[in-house]
Amino acid sequence: MLTEKMEKAINGQINAELYSAYLYLAMAAWFQEQDLPGFAGWMRIQVQEEQFHAMKMFDHVLERGGRTDLGAIDAPPGDWKSPLDVFKATLEHEQKVTGLINDLVYLARDERDNATEIFLQWFVKEQVEEEDTASGILGQLKLVEGSPQALFLMDRELGQRVFTPPAAGEGGA
Ligand SMILES: [Fe+2]
Ligand SMILES: [Fe+2]
Repeated sequence: MLTEKMEKAINGQINAELYSAYLYLAMAAWFQEQDLPGFAGWMRIQVQEEQFHAMKMFDHVLERGGRTDLGAIDAPPGDWKSPLDVFKATLEHEQKVTGLINDLVYLARDERDNATEIFLQWFVKEQVEEEDTASGILGQLKLVEGSPQALFLMDRELGQRVFTPPAAGEGGA
């Protein structure tokens, strides 16, 4: 069984993951408006990943005999100054989520909940990837600043991204 504290915290994380999906959905719309369909497509995949994260948390609560408590999801911002600005916000957001995941790990330790601590390790690794990817794209955007041609090529490249849900076992679901 999940302790009450742990249950509340994971429910909070379900909300945070769904907020992430919502944020990236807003970014997908923004990129679409800027005629950057590749960036928009990349963000749409990001939405799917965040929904996947939320579902993993949701399943964990249910598997452990907990109760889900689904609260309202905040509205995301809808406007950014530039693609660079979007990816700055993306990296900052992912860094914030990493902090939330770490706090969950510390709580699981305090609550002596080994199963949840092990479950969370997948998210710890996932956040390393999320931050690395966001900072990689941010770095490229800094390089191409002022060059529409380079941005166009980047848009094409990012449009290649596909969603691949982790295999069972690997996902720890
Ligand atoms: Fe996530
Ligand atoms: Fe994320």
